[in-house]
Amino acid sequence: MTTRGADSKSDLTSPTKQGGQLKARFSVRELGSATWPDFERMVEKHNGVWGGCWCTFFHLTYDGPDVVGWCQFGPPPELPGRMSGYGKMDVAPPDWRTTCFFVDRDHRRAGVAKAALEGALGFIAARGGGTVDGYPKALPRGKPYSSSFIWGGTESMYAELGFRPLGALGTSNRVKVMRKVVLS
Ligand SMILES: CC(C)(COP(=O)(O)OP(=O)(O)OC[C@H]1O[C@@H](n2cnc3c(N)ncnc32)[C@H](O)[C@@H]1OP(=O)(O)O)[C@@H](O)C(=O)NCCC(=O)NCCS
Repeated sequence: MTTRGADSKSDLTSPTKQGGQLKARFSVRELGSATWPDFERMVEKHNGVWGGCWCTFFHLTYDGPDVVGWCQFGPPPELPGRMSGYGKMDVAPPDWRTTCFFVDRDHRRAGVAKAALEGALGFIAARGGGTVDGYPKALPRGKPYSSSFIWGGTESMYAELGFRPLGALGTSNRVKVMRKVVLS
């Protein structure tokens, strides 16, 4: 269950660390007819994402009135890509997956992706909770890495929100599987 069609009545506010203090800055809303114009503005600004991708199964992160990012989440039947990797890990598949992030290029490195992930966990809790798996990329230490290739997020943001590593997904040692149990 993600964002198809209906707008969520609930908005979630995410506390983010700023100047050492927890501060509510970003809010999170599901994508639907009411939020579509805000989403459209952001995608048009970037001429589409990844050369024209308009993936729409996610919720949006707002900084005031502006959409500044999103996180895609849903159960495996809605997001079935690369589930075969679980066979090699010998663990039960998750109830939920967080699979893709995008942050406005003018708002990066300010905690938006992490706030979007926290927002997804809030929506998942509201839908009954369960196991949640994310697929961050293992970044080379001390070397710059292009943000364009970190659509799965980073290990640090998952670890900070309580996810623990399960292993590598498939043959790629770069894509990790990290899991958290979310209560309803
Ligand atoms: C990757 C991306 C989602 C990160 O968003 P962000 O809001 O800048 O991330 P945050 O500020 O929440 O940072 C989360 C962590 O990632 C780290 N990080 C973010 N960008 C990084 C980069 N390019 N290299 C290394 N670390 C990075 C931050 O330092 C932070 O780590 P910390 O918790 O240890 O301090 C963003 O750069 C992006 O949208 N890239 C494009 C991805 C894309 O094209 N997606 C669509 C595919 S269809």
